[in-house]
Amino acid sequence: MGKVATGLSMSLDGFIAGPNDGPDQPLGDGGERLFAWYSGGDTEYGLPGTEMVFQVSRQSAEMLRQAHAGMGAFVTGRRTFDLANGWGGSPPLGVPTFVVTHTVPEEWVYEGSPFTFVTGGVESAVEKARAVAGDRDVAVGAASIAQQCLRAGLLDEVHVDLVPVLLGDSVRLFEHLGAGPVELESTRVIEGAGVTHLTFSVVK
Ligand SMILES: NC(=O)c1ccc[n+]([C@@H]2O[C@H](COP(=O)([O-])OP(=O)(O)OC[C@H]3O[C@@H](n4cnc5c(N)ncnc54)[C@H](OP(=O)(O)O)[C@@H]3O)[C@@H](O)[C@H]2O)c1
Repeated sequence: MGKVATGLSMSLDGFIAGPNDGPDQPLGDGGERLFAWYSGGDTEYGLPGTEMVFQVSRQSAEMLRQAHAGMGAFVTGRRTFDLANGWGGSPPLGVPTFVVTHTVPEEWVYEGSPFTFVTGGVESAVEKARAVAGDRDVAVGAASIAQQCLRAGLLDEVHVDLVPVLLGDSVRLFEHLGAGPVELESTRVIEGAGVTHLTFSVVK
């Protein structure tokens, strides 16, 4: 079995978007700053399954290559899906994508769709994603889903691309975690250009 891991760009004060996110600006006011590191380096990195090419540091490119090569499925939340407009039908990295939601958007359900809408909560979504991913990893890419996975003990790894900006308010990655500390163990620190990649394993 592969691992279940979050991977999100986060401001130094803990936000994964700026205020007022919406269809016109999915990352909110100033939130695009969280992704500036994808164009802040001198090494090209082509995002698998897409036409997108980033310019990152050599260190970030190697980190991304490793992370993406091991990814077999993606679990996200309905807000992220809606804000991204379903990535135009091509989910990140081209892997099967499981969207946790209360209601299935029928317009996105079609033969060969890369999206599966899961109404049974995060446990069900992660179970389905694991089944598809096999030996590869399951990436968890939204705040509310990561929080629920942490609470349910489903996360093996927390990866944060830490960006030196203070966004002040909006969607916090680490909140609603319930009582008691969640212990993490630092397993890797990589300094990129305009970003520090931090990886922790979740102590169970
Ligand atoms: N910085 C980054 O790397 C990064 C990456 C991705 C996203 N983002 C940002 O993160 C924000 C979105 O994150 P978010 O935490 O606010 O929202 P989210 O996790 O994407 O979606 C939350 C929604 O998912 C559904 N949901 C969640 N848990 C559920 C459950 N147990 N059962 C059924 N449905 C459930 C609900 O939608 P329904 O009730 O409508 O079904 C809920 O409102 C956006 O601002 C986005 O741009 C940032």
